[in-house]
Amino acid sequence: MKSISIFGVFVADLCFIGDRIPNKGETILGKKHVVGPGGKGSNQSIAAARLNGNVSFITKVGKDSHSEMALNLYKEAGVKTHSIIQDNKLFTGVAGIMIDKGGNNAINIISGAAEHLVTGDIDNKVETIKNSEIFLTQMETPYETTIYALKKAKEHKCITILNPAPARKIDEDIFKIIDFFTPNETEAEFYLNKKIETSEDIKNAANELLKKGIKNVIITLGEKGIYFANGKENFFLEAYKLKQPVIDTTGAGDAFNGAFAVGLANDLDIKEALTFANKVAGVSTTKSGAATSMPFAKELTDN
Ligand code: RIB
Repeated sequence: MKSISIFGVFVADLCFIGDRIPNKGETILGKKHVVGPGGKGSNQSIAAARLNGNVSFITKVGKDSHSEMALNLYKEAGVKTHSIIQDNKLFTGVAGIMIDKGGNNAINIISGAAEHLVTGDIDNKVETIKNSEIFLTQMETPYETTIYALKKAKEHKCITILNPAPARKIDEDIFKIIDFFTPNETEAEFYLNKKIETSEDIKNAANELLKKGIKNVIITLGEKGIYFANGKENFFLEAYKLKQPVIDTTGAGDAFNGAFAVGLANDLDIKEALTFANKVAGVSTTKSGAATSMPFAKELTDN
């Protein structure tokens, strides 16, 4: 099996569960408050490790109760932690998450210690990237450091996956070093500066992203599944038909990305890896929380 390095953020998710997400200027009475592990890179690492991936996570956290939660979680899941920098002068990040009764969410994240990840940190941990064949990252870490890490990964011949979440401007020359680009519909709209409404819009969006130099585009469409295109092959995959109700969609995109990396690490072909990731993402929505909802390999046979 190929090894995976993931660069990203850990934060503690402060989740507020209520009937609905409050409107601007509104106060509502919620139903439940849960504090759990989150952060896209961290969630993706847990997803991959629970699916038996060989995963190293590169990040920066503080030395506090939140980072303790993270380190316990990695130990339990088997995520390799030698590239996690702990800085006792910084605070581990947090995210405020509002969740409605349909499992939809709105998130505001403060990356905390991970906001202080600099290119020198990547140089210090470059062996981790060098020793992996697949590199996965997102956009919660500082832009310059994220791009530097992506470039290092390409230099060391890794397959690169960029999950552009949250959507932020990317310099045009960077697209050509991305092997797999995995925006959701909203993020794809951001990169193309246009609305995506119909199936035709989705196909056109993927083609336009390919024209930027990305090798493979995967647009995740929530309950509508995914669309894949690489110029030779293109197809829609329906969302996995769940046997249980959706409880919380937080982290479903992370489940997808972590699982897709494992699919590639196991040498599945692209369609097989996408089918696998689609199922893992679906199953993750039947449990609450972000990292806590990542399915274990054995759960996939029961769902
Ligand atoms: O993708 C879900 C994650 O986004 C949450 O865990 C939250 O921390 C934010 O990073």
